[in-house]
Amino acid sequence: ASGAGSKLKFTGIDGVEATVDNVTVPKGYNWKPVIRWGDPLFADSAEFDPENQTPESQAGQFGYNNDYLDILEIPGTNGKRAVLFSNHEYTNEAIMFPPTMSASDVRRTAMAAHGLSVVELRRKGKGQPWEYVRGAKLNRRFLFDTEYELTGPAAGSKLLQTKADPTGRKVLGTQNNCAGGTTPWGTILSGEENFNQYFKVANPTAEQRRYGLTDPNPSRGWHLEETRFDTDLPEGKNEDNRFGWIVEVDPFDPTSTPRKHTALGRFKHEGANVTIAKSGHVVSYSGDDERFDYLYKFVSKGKYVEGDKKHNMTLLTEGDLFVASFTGNSPANQIDGAGVLPSDGAFDGVGHWIQLTKDGNSMVPGMEIDQVLVYTRLAADKMGATKMDRPEDVEVNPLTGKVYVACTNNTKRTAAQADEANPRANNKHGHIVELSETGDQASTEFSWNLLLVAGDPAVDESAYFGGYPADKVQPISCPDNVAFDSVGNLWISTDGQPGTIQRNDALYRVTLEGPERGKVEQFMAVPVDAETCGPVIDDQDGMVYVAVQHPGEDGSWEKQNSLFPDYLPAGTPSGKGGLPRPSVIQMYKGKTGF
Ligand code: FEO
Ligand code: CA
Ligand code: CA
Ligand code: CA
Repeated sequence: ASGAGSKLKFTGIDGVEATVDNVTVPKGYNWKPVIRWGDPLFADSAEFDPENQTPESQAGQFGYNNDYLDILEIPGTNGKRAVLFSNHEYTNEAIMFPPTMSASDVRRTAMAAHGLSVVELRRKGKGQPWEYVRGAKLNRRFLFDTEYELTGPAAGSKLLQTKADPTGRKVLGTQNNCAGGTTPWGTILSGEENFNQYFKVANPTAEQRRYGLTDPNPSRGWHLEETRFDTDLPEGKNEDNRFGWIVEVDPFDPTSTPRKHTALGRFKHEGANVTIAKSGHVVSYSGDDERFDYLYKFVSKGKYVEGDKKHNMTLLTEGDLFVASFTGNSPANQIDGAGVLPSDGAFDGVGHWIQLTKDGNSMVPGMEIDQVLVYTRLAADKMGATKMDRPEDVEVNPLTGKVYVACTNNTKRTAAQADEANPRANNKHGHIVELSETGDQASTEFSWNLLLVAGDPAVDESAYFGGYPADKVQPISCPDNVAFDSVGNLWISTDGQPGTIQRNDALYRVTLEGPERGKVEQFMAVPVDAETCGPVIDDQDGMVYVAVQHPGEDGSWEKQNSLFPDYLPAGTPSGKGGLPRPSVIQMYKGKTGF
């Protein structure tokens, strides 16, 4: 059957026109926000007041552009209490703030809308919708005065020392946190992604150039508020090296110090997902979301100990870092201007993990260990890793151990640059790689195939759906986040469909096993201009959650494109007027709809 035995029964919806400003769910389902941008988290937080937001009010409220999401039950509450974690990747100032607000207030309020949030939830019981609890004891905002500890072999390195922090071990803040993962020990990992856009860099070094740190006049202007974001000043020297890491947060301990793990390397981390190998070592997979960048994995030195959270929280501080090399197994036939088709009819082959670090030492000729970890992209370049089509979320199927890599798109790849693992020129729709480690998850060898080559099969001959008849599936484009339900179906959320298939971004279920392998069914679509982030599929509880990011982002303060999720009357925003609010939403069958 569809969805290979999932309890979550639904009839897939059709694609939704890219102008629709609604959340679209299957027949019989409802949706409702859990928490919205601006909702007050603490007893003394200011109420959301869109015309009068301040850095101080925003610091006590849920941030903007929620991306990674998880909802973890608080043990012993019989499903009635949970803790929600969300990232706030970036801000859309033009639709958030009135034009009368001063440039400095805009910048400082936008900074406070970045970072992370932890919020407690409550409900009547399993299968029921949640509400957030204002003033709950686990509620926390992570802002630019929050201190992070750098861990691992590069912590304390000269490359991480700044004027304000000569120890090279303490960073203030996190930014552009995109996807993430929840560890088996109950902490959250969050990827610092396009951190480069926040730094002023007038005279980039080769290393800075490789990370896109090249803007002498960044439009966000944070360097005008804090001199550490100006890398041309003594205060800014090396500050850029302190972003681009995987952050680990313990949402159950509101006084804990969050950490940035240097052992996992520095790049534009989409996120990180951890699995436990048979050997007990933990393995973390991470994509570097840039055209022609790489797929990485980290294998811990220590072993997982069930129930020992304190020990398990040390596992990401020591271990070996690898980068992926893919090889096709069949001569590729060049398709004129379009890319390649494999002569054996399948996009597949083998690969290996190139070792960048070993036992705290560099494996890269000419680079020291701290250089490999701080300038990981340059290390991977030297070692000849495979250039991928923007690897975003990477996640392990908990039932099969297979690894799924969302390559979202790469419109810059030429036909001559196409290979079997990235087979399309001008790859605007993206694809999904299915990777099987050889033996243990910590292995250095793997085999792979492309599960999906995305697109609209009606107009795109290269679209491929795991062998499933292409005329019987929903078009899908720009896969970004991946997730699994309890029976091992893959769920994919998208980022960019309005620009490629003229449909709102959406969430899909893909059957992986059995005769319906490759069947793509659409579960929901987000409103106009929005991206579907952070999907959480709790099929056993009948609940699906997404973070609706940047709704109406192409509008302006005066002419908003979206009124999601409150749908207040249109018109100039005011205390009563409508504007879009990025929100976490819940979808479920039942009467208590929005
Ligand atoms: Fe922030 Fe790679 O998406
Ligand atoms: Ca092949
Ligand atoms: Ca993403
Ligand atoms: Ca994306």
